[in-house]
Amino acid sequence: MHFLLIACISATFLFASGVPVSEELITDEAKAIEFLEWYNKESSKVTYSYFLKQWAYQTNLTDFNQQQAVS
Ligand SMILES: *[C@@H]1O[C@H](CO)[C@@H](O)[C@H](O)[C@H]1NC(C)=O
Repeated sequence: MHFLLIACISATFLFASGVPVSEELITDEAKAIEFLEWYNKESSKVTYSYFLKQWAYQTNLTDFNQQQAVS
């Protein structure tokens, strides 16, 4: 359940960040593995950054931290 939530948040942020997410169906296994490795790396970075900013805001309620968390 938590993984699913994090995956949805990551996908949303990747989409919002302008990283090109191809809509084509990948049938080549090597390409699929390459995509998953890329996705795993990028989504980890985005998710980590998201939670750091959320934590900063939730433990220190300033306008600046709120803007960082929302951006
Ligand atoms: C709270 O956040 C502000 C930035 O908005 C920062 O300057 C301040 O040092 C932080 N306070 C603590 C206790 O971390």
